[in-house]
Amino acid sequence: MHAGGAARLRTVTLAVLTLSLTAAATGCGNDSGGQSGEVTVGIALPTTKQTRWIADGNNMEKLFKEQGYKTDKQYAEDSVEKQVEQVEAMIDRGDKLLIIGAVDGFELGDALQKASRAGVKVIAYDRLLLGSSNVDYYASFNNYKVGELQARYIIDKLGLKKGGNAGPYNIELFAGDANDNNVRGFFSGAMDTLNPFIEDGQLEVPSKQTRLSQVTTFKWQADIAQETMTTRLNDFYKGSSTVDAILAPNDGIARGLIKALKKDDYGTTAKPMPIITGQDAETESVNEIIAGEQSMTVYKDTRKLAEVAVKMAQDILSGKQPEINDKTGNDNGNKVVPAYLLAPVSVDKSNYKKLLVDSGYIKASDLD
Ligand code: BGC
Repeated sequence: MHAGGAARLRTVTLAVLTLSLTAAATGCGNDSGGQSGEVTVGIALPTTKQTRWIADGNNMEKLFKEQGYKTDKQYAEDSVEKQVEQVEAMIDRGDKLLIIGAVDGFELGDALQKASRAGVKVIAYDRLLLGSSNVDYYASFNNYKVGELQARYIIDKLGLKKGGNAGPYNIELFAGDANDNNVRGFFSGAMDTLNPFIEDGQLEVPSKQTRLSQVTTFKWQADIAQETMTTRLNDFYKGSSTVDAILAPNDGIARGLIKALKKDDYGTTAKPMPIITGQDAETESVNEIIAGEQSMTVYKDTRKLAEVAVKMAQDILSGKQPEINDKTGNDNGNKVVPAYLLAPVSVDKSNYKKLLVDSGYIKASDLD
């Protein structure tokens, strides 16, 4: 090889080296998505109080690791300030992409702007990030459908038909945290389904608490819902009047409500448990479903959500267009965020084995 050839080879080698270093740093140019630990993805999740978020975090971590990414996972334990700090620290540490399950969808605007300035893409995880243009994608479940499934269950179990004259049955309504955007979806899905029966008198709400602003539960806290239920039982269920159904937005709150009901002697032949809905298919609640205390839950396979989010992240990091299935339905007040929404599934005593145990979501040995 003559001198000119060697020089050219050196230039080519250098160019290739520079290219691959750039690729490693930006996360681009590797079809398998594997970046040998050079790229870190920040995973900011709201809380460990509901076990689903622990599963979400672990599932994503595992999948990212398998693809050669590093992860930087933080839980904010329902504190907005803590989450803002965590997200900003992720950007400062050089995390290349952020996956955020917000404590409060509105409160991360400045941190998201900081991310955008640093060229860090953001995926809103499960809960839409609101009011900011710096949200790139959204991965979640169809939250309206969650509420619809809960309400449909109540209607079917009470045997209500449009135009019928059953009842009147007494129902009480509960919702999650006012600052969680999903709560609007859950509640409208439920109320669009329940309202016709409230209007035609087949359902009655003795407490008259029917508006979202009247029924939200601060930070989804089960003990607060329990106290509210106790107050409603004392104030509106005197004498022989009993509650027939409760719209409980998730499993944690359902368990709180069950405690209040049991203290009021529900769960006996004389005073059977009302129909109580739920969400998340948490092991503790599936055990309550088996025991006949909670009636149903809405199963959202967090393994699938983690897969969607990780795939989105990989695509973004390698310069590909992530797959979405909802282009128009997720307006965050500033932009319509392209989304991939999964379907939730209604689970009760009749199908929990097939859906939750056979699929490996819950271990048979963890059930009573
Ligand atoms: C999630 C639910 C969860 C609730 C409380 C919602 O945003 O979609 O699955 O039960 O937050 O953590």
